[in-house]
Amino acid sequence: MSNIVYFETLDSTQTYLKQHFNELADQTVVTTDTQTAGRGRFDRRWVSEPGGLYFSVLLKPQKTDFLANLTQLLALCVCQAAEQYAVQPNLKWPNDVQVAGKKLCGILSEAITQNGRVAGLVMGAGINVAQKDLSHVGQPAVSLRELGVHVAKEDFMQNVLDLFFQSYPAVVAEGFSVIRPAYKERFPFLGKQISIKNGTAAVTGIAQDLSPRGTLMLSTPGATQEILIGDLLV
Ligand code: BTN
Repeated sequence: MSNIVYFETLDSTQTYLKQHFNELADQTVVTTDTQTAGRGRFDRRWVSEPGGLYFSVLLKPQKTDFLANLTQLLALCVCQAAEQYAVQPNLKWPNDVQVAGKKLCGILSEAITQNGRVAGLVMGAGINVAQKDLSHVGQPAVSLRELGVHVAKEDFMQNVLDLFFQSYPAVVAEGFSVIRPAYKERFPFLGKQISIKNGTAAVTGIAQDLSPRGTLMLSTPGATQEILIGDLLV
């Protein structure tokens, strides 16, 4: 059972856990109603208005080989939690959750290094539960409420966390292969043409597979490339 710390407002749950990493226990969760400086991937801003679910988890696993796969596990658990309400989400590699092309959840994952070694991970999810207006978040987005789901955000978070911690020990030990079938089932881009953008550079090809390491195998003219990170664009 995780220790859950609640704040009415914070700059960012992610920043809070990073700042208090040393004194907080493994598996501490921090959640808030609004963030004044919510952060997304690639230094983007994460608009965090009331009604949304914002939480971060601090992890200090014994084995740190598969940290990137823990982020993919969290995304999968958000899908599985939403499916309990008859929503059909899918995964946009590596860790976005979307419904019919609109973003339902984004996840930011930051490794913590101390004295030259990885000490742990702070991983945060922003889930559109019941915000009034998503028109200004900067990308097509949808909330559970708009999909007809009326759930208390605390209950939804607990559900996601329960699912996450059920599979956590196995993914820490063995990595993506533990969740690969479930992840691939929810990844609708296999066999399709996609682009992956990393910084300003984009590479286009056919999404061939997700490897046992959780990387994306992209078939481009002349070669298959293994993509480790980036933003998937259709
Ligand atoms: C993304 O899709 O770019 C990732 C967004 C992650 C947002 C969450 S909200 C809770 C936690 N605190 C933050 O500042 N960011 C993450």
